[in-house]
Amino acid sequence: MTYENLKIDNTDGIYTVTITRPKALNALNGRTMSEIKHFFEEDAPQHADLKGVILTGSGEKSFVAGADIKEFLGLSNDEGGKLSQRGQDIFFSIERFPKPVIALVNGYALGGGCELAMACHLRIATPNALFGQPEINLGIIPGYGGTQRLLQYLGKSKATELLLTADNMKAEDALQHGLVNYVLEPAEAKEKAEKIIHKTASKGPLAIAKTIECINAFYAANTDGFAKEVEAFTEVTQTGDFIEGATAFTEKRKPNFTGK
Ligand code: CAA
Repeated sequence: MTYENLKIDNTDGIYTVTITRPKALNALNGRTMSEIKHFFEEDAPQHADLKGVILTGSGEKSFVAGADIKEFLGLSNDEGGKLSQRGQDIFFSIERFPKPVIALVNGYALGGGCELAMACHLRIATPNALFGQPEINLGIIPGYGGTQRLLQYLGKSKATELLLTADNMKAEDALQHGLVNYVLEPAEAKEKAEKIIHKTASKGPLAIAKTIECINAFYAANTDGFAKEVEAFTEVTQTGDFIEGATAFTEKRKPNFTGK
């Protein structure tokens, strides 16, 4: 697939994916959603050098200002449901990606933009970042997981307030409420994201992937997260990486993990 709305840069295995629709404040139209899907489901798994992904928006004003409202206007009958299901599935591909995906939130993260940031494993915001689910202003509700993930991050009280009032949350408040991991100036924010990805890349890749699976199991309906942990633990203790990690510990050296 040729990317029209995503710019992808690879620096030393850190793939920075920039959503580039500046004229629409990087709003997620159908084409952009297809490209995100293609990147996470088709392209990224092929890149053997990939250590992690930084997802951001072009320009300094907006991460993503939501789903593309103009595209919504022509929706008929069950098309809304299909759009919502597809969006959720694409964001699950991000949440289930086996290597860290960090949202670098550089401005508006509204509606689908807030939902996109929440589907990433970690969020680093710049001081001008603004989070919110303003869908009720349009007479609709969040459709890409916002009514669920906002509760996971903020808890029921604060999330309900935001969902019912369409109020926005500033970066510092988002930090205080646990929606973001850090608030940093743009250059430092990028550096921090890179540092985190380099750090995780020095660990066992299978263990990283299994940890992400277990974290997701906590929030998955009808899944026993503790049972999932036993299953994942059983798998990782049968890997060469485990032998290497434990051997390196006893030999007082750094482990050389191979992902096997
Ligand atoms: N969809 C389509 N176009 C958008 C957009 C969106 N979500 N957000 C901004 N744009 C466009 C504007 O239409 C405008 O384009 P034109 O110049 O062609 O008119 C351009 O981006 C710049 O926007 P503004 O002039 O409005 O910029 P501003 O600085 O005055 O305001 C803003 C910025 C507060 C983010 C405002 O643009 C805004 O409120 N955007 C909509 C936010 C929103 O409601 N998001 C939720 C969308 S629905 C959704 O996401 C559902 C879901 O869960 C899947």
